[in-house]
Amino acid sequence: MSADTFSKVDEMKAAIEADQPGDLQALEQFRIKYLGSKNVIKALFGEIRNIPNEQKKEYGQRVNAVKEAAEAKYNSLKQQLETAAEEAAVKDIDLTAPGEPIELGSRHPIAVTMNRIIRIFERIGFVVADDREIEDDWHNFTAMNTPEDHPARDMQDTFYLQNSMEMLLRTHTSSVQARVMKHTQPPIRIIAPGRVYRNETVSARSHCQFHQVEGLYVDENVSFADLKQTLLYFAREMFGPDAQIRLRPSYFPFTEPSAEMDVYLGTETEKDYRLTKGTGWLEILGCGMVDPAVLENCGIDSTKYTGFAFGMGIERQALRLYDIGDIRLFFENDVRFLKQFASTI
Ligand code: PHE
Repeated sequence: MSADTFSKVDEMKAAIEADQPGDLQALEQFRIKYLGSKNVIKALFGEIRNIPNEQKKEYGQRVNAVKEAAEAKYNSLKQQLETAAEEAAVKDIDLTAPGEPIELGSRHPIAVTMNRIIRIFERIGFVVADDREIEDDWHNFTAMNTPEDHPARDMQDTFYLQNSMEMLLRTHTSSVQARVMKHTQPPIRIIAPGRVYRNETVSARSHCQFHQVEGLYVDENVSFADLKQTLLYFAREMFGPDAQIRLRPSYFPFTEPSAEMDVYLGTETEKDYRLTKGTGWLEILGCGMVDPAVLENCGIDSTKYTGFAFGMGIERQALRLYDIGDIRLFFENDVRFLKQFASTI
């Protein structure tokens, strides 16, 4: 009986040696047969209970050797066959064939417009300050002279983070003014481009986000005349050398005096007529002299320094620049629309 069982082990050993899987599929069959969860070697182990005690040890060792032989054969064949399969696959590649075409994207018209604005200000020494869109209450409102319960907060309702009323989506890029002034002493000359958010009425929900470029200049003896001259320079670079601007008195908690600036486009073309609602004037920004309280909130001596600031909307300028009729197109991400703005700027 036990001699018979021993010979089964030898037969299994011979069978494994004779088995020559020629490809990965056959090798998988080999694995299932000898090494899988229901493999045939297990049956040999099961026979151990029929072996006389004094032979159990030898029997066990021999079955183990068979198992190890199967594993070793599997591992070496696996490597060989995989290498062979890879080589066969590579052999068929035509290295002289043209490559897959790379799809080139294009910049979004809002980004192109923003970059144009950045370039214009960079030429007169402004540097870009980029900062977070999720802002805290202090930088967005309090530092900008709009403490809690200030009525001006109503003009800029926003979205608060669920787990903290202290954190919100910034309503304007003016928050970057506070970020920069807190850790920089004048002279400061920055522009801060980026996305901002407002919780507008439901019908305008699709526009609860838009883009601005903020400007801030703080130094000794900065005057309103500097502000006006800077904005005129900008308008002429952006809209052409004959561009005219007008400043209308306005109110912002963080500037005093404050103004809104319009650029004259005229009403000759239908699109300008529409864009300016028949007036010829396109409102593009709010501005003013930085309120001394804002400087003090941010650790800047308001008896020594003065500054001006402005914040401009990008969408309307992009509409005009690209002759686009509907602002919603900017946010729909329709590639047929976006493809028309192949630009590298
Ligand atoms: N932050 C203002 C707004 O979003 C614009 C502004 C910026 C006005 C800087 C004055 C100075 O409406």
